Amino acid sequence: MSCRRGALIVLEGVDRAGKTTQCQKLVHALQQSGRAAEMMRFPDRTTKIGQLISSYLEKKSNLEDHTVHLLFSANRWEMVPLMKQKLEQGINLVVDRYAFSGVAFTSAKPGFSLEWCMNPDIGLPKPDLVMFLQLNPNMAANRGEYGIERYETSAFQRTVHQRFEELMQDSSVNWKRYLQQQWRGQAHRCAFCRAGAGSGRSRLGTDRLHLG
Ligand code: TMP
Repeated sequence: MSCRRGALIVLEGVDRAGKTTQCQKLVHALQQSGRAAEMMRFPDRTTKIGQLISSYLEKKSNLEDHTVHLLFSANRWEMVPLMKQKLEQGINLVVDRYAFSGVAFTSAKPGFSLEWCMNPDIGLPKPDLVMFLQLNPNMAANRGEYGIERYETSAFQRTVHQRFEELMQDSSVNWKRYLQQQWRGQAHRCAFCRAGAGSGRSRLGTDRLHLG
């Protein structure tokens, strides 16, 4: 018997914006409403590729900038069979970061165009909804443990935020922006209906990943 495809819901934002907490709340809310839901996150640091990325982020190793960008993308691609399997089983996937982070972070480095950064992720399953949690990078910097990992400087995060703003101009992506005061306990409540989850309307995108 065929079942309805699950929805692919992505949460994006600058570092320390609270994405992980909101992902957990959303998964919990979906499960409470009787829907199958699971969380995934990128980078997935458990795989061999993920361990290389993790070591880089923890500043234990250095990687050339193009190389690490491609590793982040490869880390998504290696999860695609599992993602498709779960979505086809009717499981709603709530994903902490996706290709949008890949583009926003690398293109915040000098010499990287949005176009170059998008290319390796073209063809990934297209999200039904991308929730952008907007937090002022200065506020993020006051949050616990900020600055331990690579990229956690206010100047860099401000540029990342600008890149996200550019990506959000793409109307072919179902972006929904939440300001900090809005998402406290609220974001997960309306996410599900916006994604069309469980309605059978959502698509398992094998189409181009429209990032910009
Ligand atoms: P996190 O595991 O705390 O979300 O941090 C991952 C870091 O890696 C964060 O600074 C964002 C960055 N990143 C990229 O640079 N490219 C990517 O493709 C992804 C998913 C994350």
